[in-house]
Amino acid sequence: MDQVDIAILGAGAAGLFCAGSALTQGCRILVAEHSRKPGEKIRISGGGRCNFTNLATSWDRFLSRNRRFAASALARYRPEDFVRLVDHAGIGWHEKTQGQLFCDGKATQITDMLMHRMRGAELRLETSVEDVHRNAEGFVIATNAGQVRARRVVVATGGKSIPKMGATGIGYAIARKFGLRIVEPRAGLVPLTFAEQDLVLCRPLAGISVEAEIRHGKAGFRDALLFTHRGLSGPAILQISNYWQPGEVLEVNLQPDLDITEALMMARKGAGRMTVATILSQWLPERLTQAIAAEQGLSEARLADQPNAVLQRLGLRINRWQLRPVGTEGYRTAEVTLGGVDTGDLDARTMQAREVPGLYFIGECVDVTGWLGGYNFQWAWASAEAAGQAL
Ligand code: FDA
Repeated sequence: MDQVDIAILGAGAAGLFCAGSALTQGCRILVAEHSRKPGEKIRISGGGRCNFTNLATSWDRFLSRNRRFAASALARYRPEDFVRLVDHAGIGWHEKTQGQLFCDGKATQITDMLMHRMRGAELRLETSVEDVHRNAEGFVIATNAGQVRARRVVVATGGKSIPKMGATGIGYAIARKFGLRIVEPRAGLVPLTFAEQDLVLCRPLAGISVEAEIRHGKAGFRDALLFTHRGLSGPAILQISNYWQPGEVLEVNLQPDLDITEALMMARKGAGRMTVATILSQWLPERLTQAIAAEQGLSEARLADQPNAVLQRLGLRINRWQLRPVGTEGYRTAEVTLGGVDTGDLDARTMQAREVPGLYFIGECVDVTGWLGGYNFQWAWASAEAAGQAL
């Protein structure tokens, strides 16, 4: 049976980074990955350009049952630290918006950089981890290619999102087996699905994008909202999906810079002969205003003929659109998995299981999920570094 010092399960963002952080003279590290290539999610991330971090990273941009858990690791490994690695590797990057840093070129440059950084560790591809158990000397990892003995094990197998790309959720099974609790996983950063009555408006508008503000309880995001054949998508919807639960209502402001009722009342004074739709199209895409006007029975209506009550109704429709999604597209398209290994059972400084010395959980399989925009990779790097330094 193979014997190593450290076995890292999963060669995604967190596993590859952890291998590089844990390298020390004479320490044998094995990274086991069941896909044919490492870092497959890195490759497709950020539309192929990998949004590898966010300069505004802070613990309050992450969801977790214990939101403060991530603070320690995030404070010790910061976006600037990762940028230094990227610069050192000569990878060009740019800030797109809201602190989001993307590669100028292909996302695979990041994987290449991580592979270079972990030189000295062994990467074993097409090696599927099936089980982990403990014996007197440490851990035994059962794989499709035989057993491996390890003194310490780092579980970096990610969540359940995009099973087609290798997601298995085995990290949760390993955690449960060793007595750790699991916060029920669910799809995050995922398009929401809508009932037929909402699709009637959305479908003909497919392709139109507006900057909107979406609110749910205390959470609110201002970003692009995209009408699609299946309903609504775009960054604003993905962001709010992390906070939404079935049965709950979202509030969408399609023109966050303007009180539409007030603006219509002002316009009525000077431009009352114009149609409602024409006036609205100053502030919203024309096809959208026509659709809203039609929906409200105001297609040809002149502004001057509309009483305050109608303008108020239109204002509410645009500034406070109430939407009740029927579900999400699920793990098939979700960028992340919410929930995971309960942080109450992990040491926030080292990611080690409190009751199982030598067993660590990092990255997406832990109950820490970031907003859209590079936060999830920053969590992968930071949690991997925390474990890597402690190993
Ligand atoms: P990750 O899923 O990357 O890695 C886990 C690895 O374990 C995989 O390689 C998997 O094959 C392997 N594995 C699973 N089961 C196994 C088993 N039984 N045996 C062996 N190996 C096993 N985030 C961000 O910050 N910026 C971005 O631009 C994007 N973009 C983006 C786009 C898309 C389409 C998706 C789906 C996701 C993103 N993300 C993102 C999220 C980001 O990809 C995610 O948070 C990290 O990849 C998580 O890193 P991990 O290493 O924890 O899991």
